[in-house]
Amino acid sequence: MKRHNLLLVDDEKDILRTLGLTFEEDYEVFTARSGMEALGVLERHDIALIIADQRMPEMTGVELLQRSITLNPHIIRIILTGYTDTGDLIQAINKGHIYQYITKPWDRQELRVVVKRALESYDLVIENQRLFKELEAANDRLRDENTLIRKELNNDLQFAEIVGQGAAMRRVFDLVTKVIDTTITVLLTGETGTGKTLLARYIHHHGPRKDKLFVEQNCGALPESLLESELFGHKRGAFTGAVQDQKGLFEAADGGTVFLDEISEMSPLLQVKLLQILQEGRFRRVGDSTYRQVDVRIISATNKDLDAEIKKGHFRSDLYYRINVFPIHIPPLRERSEDIPLLAAHCLKKYSRRFRSPVAGFNEEVVSELCRYGFPGNVRELENLIERAIILNSGDRIEMGDWLPRSRHNPVGLSRIEQVERAEIVRLLELHQGKLSLVAKELGISRTTLWRRLKDYGIQGGEEPDPLE
Ligand SMILES: Nc1ncnc2c1ncn2[C@@H]1O[C@H](COP(=O)(O)OP(=O)(O)OP(=O)(O)O)[C@@H](O)[C@H]1O
Ligand SMILES: [Mg+2]
Repeated sequence: MKRHNLLLVDDEKDILRTLGLTFEEDYEVFTARSGMEALGVLERHDIALIIADQRMPEMTGVELLQRSITLNPHIIRIILTGYTDTGDLIQAINKGHIYQYITKPWDRQELRVVVKRALESYDLVIENQRLFKELEAANDRLRDENTLIRKELNNDLQFAEIVGQGAAMRRVFDLVTKVIDTTITVLLTGETGTGKTLLARYIHHHGPRKDKLFVEQNCGALPESLLESELFGHKRGAFTGAVQDQKGLFEAADGGTVFLDEISEMSPLLQVKLLQILQEGRFRRVGDSTYRQVDVRIISATNKDLDAEIKKGHFRSDLYYRINVFPIHIPPLRERSEDIPLLAAHCLKKYSRRFRSPVAGFNEEVVSELCRYGFPGNVRELENLIERAIILNSGDRIEMGDWLPRSRHNPVGLSRIEQVERAEIVRLLELHQGKLSLVAKELGISRTTLWRRLKDYGIQGGEEPDPLE
C-alpha cells in the first residue's frame, strides 16, 4: 500500500528532528520551519496529515491548520501545544477544524497510535469520496443511456416496411437506393404525414452506420435554449438546473446519424452551430469553451418551402446548401392515389393486429372511395382513418359508413386540387350541419373566403356569412 505523506511543522529544529524520527520509518515525512513554508509544501504535495506546533512566529499553528483546509479539506490536522495554550485552542477544536491536540511533552508511542488511527479515518474518507465519484459517473452514464434508449425505442417500434408501388414512390426508392450505402447528408421534403420520418429511419437502418445510434430531434418541439442543450449538451452550471455536465445528442450519436425534423424551425443561433458541425465537424457544449469533434451523418426534414424561408430571412442559405446535398421529395398521397389500396391494407394489418380485431379486409366500394379522397394529412390521415374504422366495424370486413370521408363527386371543369378541396368542404358542411364558422375554422380560412368557395364550387347550403366579418 502507498505510504502516507506527513507534514511536520515547527520553528524549532530539534523538535522537528525528534518528530521526524518518530515517523520516518512508517511514513513519507516532509518538514517545514514556518506556516508559510508549510503552505508551500501543501500546495506541491498530496499530504494526508499535518502536525503543527501552535507557537510559531508570524503564523500560529491553528492559523496554519485553518488555511490548510482550503488546500485540502480532508487533511488530518493535529496541533502540538504546551499546557498553557489549551484555553485558546478549545474553540478551534470545537469548530471541528482540528482532529486532536497533543500536549508537550508528548509520549512517542501515544503519538504514533494517534497518527495511525487518524490516517485510518483519512483513508475511509478518501475511499468514500472515490466511491461517491464512481457512483456519480455511473449515474451519468445511466442517464445518458436512458435518454438514448428513450429516443431509440420509437425507432424500433416504428420500423416497418415502406409501402408504395406507383411511379412516384418508385422514384423515391430509386433515390434512396443511391444514398443507402453512403453517409451523405440528406434532406427529406414533403407535406406532413408523407413518411419523412419513416424514410429517415430506413436510410439509417440500412446504411453503413446501422450499428451506431440513430437519434432524432424535432427542432420545432423545444424552445431555443432547451434545444441547444439537447443537441449540443451543456457544462455544469451553464444555466439554472444544469447540475452536471451533460452530453448532447450529437455526441451521443457520434459515428451514427442525427435526424433533425422540422429543420426550418431552428433559430439563427442554432443554425450557426449546426453549420459549424457540417463544415468543421466540431461544436461546443453550452457554457463550455472547448471544442469537441464529432462525426455524424445528418438527415433533416421539412414540410416547409426552405427557399421561401430563406427569402424571408428565416433560414441561412449557406446552411441550406450544406443540408441539401441530396434532396429527396416525397409527393403527397393525393398525387399517388395508386398506392392507397396497398397502404390501406398495410394499415389494416398493422392495427387489426394491435387491437386483436377480426377485421381482415375492405368492402371494395370502401377502397374506391378512399382512392378518391384527397388526404390532406397524407398517410398519417389514412392510418388514423383505418384505425377508427377498425374500432367502429365489428365484422370481418370494413364496410361503408360515417367514418369514411364522403361525397367525392368529381364535377367537370375543376382541377384535381379543386376537386379535393370541394370534397373536403362538402364533407365538413355535413359534419358541422351547415355551420360555416365551424367549417371555416377547421379549414383555417375566413368565413367570407369559405362563402366564395361555396359559390365557385356550386355547393348548396350553409348559412349566410356575417356581413361584419
Ligand atoms: N410509404 C409508407 N408505407 C407505410 N407507412 C407509411 C408510409 N408513409 C408513411 N407511413 C406511416 O404514416 C405515418 C406518418 O409518417 P411519418 O411520421 O414518417 O410522416 P412525416 O412526413 O414524418 O410527417 P411530419 O411532417 O408530420 O413529421 C407513420 O405512422 C408512418 O409509419
Ligand atoms: Mg416526421
